[in-house]
Amino acid sequence: MIRMCFLLSLLVSAFAMADEPVMTDFGKTKDGKAVELYTLKSDSGLVAKVMTRGATLVQIHVPDKDGKSEDVILGWDDVAGYESEDNQYFGCTTGRVCNRIANGKFSLDGKDYSLAINNEPNHLHGGVERSLDKVVWKARPYTTDSGHGVRFKYTSPDGEEGYPGTVTAQVSFFVAKDANRINITYKATTDAATPINLTNHAYFNLGGAGSETVMDHVLQLNADRYTPTDDTLIPTGEITAVAGTPLDFTKPKRIGARIEKLTDTAALGYDHNFVLNPRPDDQNYNFAAFLRHKESGRTLRIWTQEPGIQFYSGNFLEGQTGKGGKTYAHRSAICLETQHYPDSVNHKSFPTTILKPGDEYKTSTLLHFGIAKDQADN
Ligand code: GAL
Repeated sequence: MIRMCFLLSLLVSAFAMADEPVMTDFGKTKDGKAVELYTLKSDSGLVAKVMTRGATLVQIHVPDKDGKSEDVILGWDDVAGYESEDNQYFGCTTGRVCNRIANGKFSLDGKDYSLAINNEPNHLHGGVERSLDKVVWKARPYTTDSGHGVRFKYTSPDGEEGYPGTVTAQVSFFVAKDANRINITYKATTDAATPINLTNHAYFNLGGAGSETVMDHVLQLNADRYTPTDDTLIPTGEITAVAGTPLDFTKPKRIGARIEKLTDTAALGYDHNFVLNPRPDDQNYNFAAFLRHKESGRTLRIWTQEPGIQFYSGNFLEGQTGKGGKTYAHRSAICLETQHYPDSVNHKSFPTTILKPGDEYKTSTLLHFGIAKDQADN
């Protein structure tokens, strides 16, 4: 009997092992740092791969309506791809402050700060050499009753990329066993007041990364309003209704249907921060976005605790060669970046992005993949 129990427990642990996050070597950065890649799986076919450089989503495979799996995010097969000029923040954790800070300047507690100008005339996505997408994070895989995850940690020293405070940041990617869902949770603490605004910059094409366009996808956003910008994509401070504009996605709409009206604007297409409608008091997460690709039947629902979402339609994609030699054409993928509003540090009327010593920054976003129940057109 004892022997039977022992054998049974061996068998159970063998199965549990098979489920746990698997780590493989993803190669080295230019300066010789080893990069690890972790594979997370659900029981219903989702396979996600995340790497330690930039706490980056490298692959997300999800089944289509016929059960055929495809990788639905842009990226590369090696670290060199991610380090190349072609990389427009594919799949990475973006920060310390995602999106733009006007002229790279802000004042905090009576002190002026100047950051790198890497998107004339502004600061973009946390800087140049040591932004959170470019550093190698430490990873710790974990397993719970409901799924598997990897927790990435990085301590950014005081003054890194010009930002004040030593910031300890954590990002975890958790794949639920029973659903095709990735829960991304961000945490941070600091020893001096500092702005922080983290997001993930995955580029989605639900027809499979490398498909020609994303203009055929249908999108719905839970946002009646957006933050208009000047010609350098810095918010003017106004919050304006989307009604009657090509930005009205309150009902599902084909992305390509009205984009041409925005081609000759500063955004070159969709590249706007949408103000999410308030989260109901009894809900932990707010519905943010619904994306559907008719042909494959794949859907993506995004739920978040953030007040905004940047909808960017891949206007700067320029035909770079990515995973498996596939071409990433202009507007062939979409980013849906849950976030606080851009340049919040310079807008008192926006929800604050200032983290203070003793406080914890904590926010989660869910990526929930599925299959459309009906194929109604929009
Ligand atoms: C987006 C941003 C775009 C562009 C892109 C990276 O988050 O809104 O304007 O900078 O990242 O190419």
